[in-house]
Amino acid sequence: MKSIKVGILGLGTVGGGTANVLQRNAAEITRRAGRDIEVIIASVRDLTRERRCDCSSLHLTTDPAEVVNHPDVDIVVELIGGETQAKDLVLQAIDNGKHVVTANKALIALHGNEIFAAAQEEGVSVLFEAAVAGGISIIKSIREGMAGNRIDLVAGIINGTGNFILTEMRDKGRPFAEVLTEAQALGYAEADPTFDVEGIDAAHKLTILASIAFGIPLQFENVYTEGISELSLTDVAYAEELGYRIKHLGIAKADASGVELRVHPTLIPAKRLIANVNGVMNAVMVRGDAVGNTLHYGAGAGAEPTASAVVADIVDVARTITADPHSRVPHLAFQPDALANLPI
Ligand code: NDP
Ligand code: HSE
Repeated sequence: MKSIKVGILGLGTVGGGTANVLQRNAAEITRRAGRDIEVIIASVRDLTRERRCDCSSLHLTTDPAEVVNHPDVDIVVELIGGETQAKDLVLQAIDNGKHVVTANKALIALHGNEIFAAAQEEGVSVLFEAAVAGGISIIKSIREGMAGNRIDLVAGIINGTGNFILTEMRDKGRPFAEVLTEAQALGYAEADPTFDVEGIDAAHKLTILASIAFGIPLQFENVYTEGISELSLTDVAYAEELGYRIKHLGIAKADASGVELRVHPTLIPAKRLIANVNGVMNAVMVRGDAVGNTLHYGAGAGAEPTASAVVADIVDVARTITADPHSRVPHLAFQPDALANLPI
């Protein structure tokens, strides 16, 4: 059977991790996808930069249009970040009939409504598991595992960089700026780290989670957003002394009167499970009327944890390509033309 051909936009932290995981675990991935998956082309900015992966077997280009217009590519994996160029490339890929996998939460939170509408028209899938909480399969868990539930609460730690900073400040008394520099070196932080420390990245993720959990349009502009950049070592130490921990949370609640979306630092009793989620780890609590409370925990950032989610989406798309095309249902966050538009 013909292999599934993948083109990757961006071979940085996540792109390099994705290429590595696809290569290293090729046998398991083929077994689960039902076909070989082969990366044939990738675009980067700088061809001379040293890569995390062995790229000898793929065509490297500085022209991302080559990836989205490549006639043999079935799945375009967008890992360049940002919104403007990423959006143009993703829409071009969809227009060319390619399936899309992305880890780009800014792109989905800000332009997802338009992207899903385009994908629905073309009958292609757009998957974005890695966009929220890195390696935790929170989107699949809500969309598939909790498909039979009415969900009224999603809350948790959804930015790894922020949680890493708060943990190091508390455990080692390290200054904020020093830990942020380390998070950047480890590949956890966004290209613009103010997105992490001002809560913007968490707000993007909360926008996506609320859309999937409550079946509402993506509406980033309605998230109350406060970051951690104003917190001092003294704040963190006082909280500890009083028996609390400061955690940066994203909270989405739905009831008959509407939906509430907020991102801010929160004092949590030190004995609570979520107060003990440390370092780059994320944890998301989801409450459904049938299942009750569920807690989802794992690495929220980093090359391979994020690649784990990207590859899961690639496998998912590969399965739909393998299936009878007449029975195929495109993967979307929600049906753009059938929205319950709850007031916020
Ligand atoms: P990096 O900065 O490490 O990698 C970006 C890659 O895209 C690089 O290979 C870069 O090329 C390439 N690139 C950037 N801009 C352009 C451009 N204009 N044209 C062509 N190529 C370009 O980012 P990450 O891998 O960390 O992040 C990628 C995406 O994944 C982002 O949307 C991010 O939010 C998301 N994400 C990141 C996570 C993480 O832990 N890092 C976790 C979850 C999601 P070059 O290498 O030559 O500079
Ligand atoms: N910068 C993000 C974080 C990457 O630290 O959580 C994962 O989305």
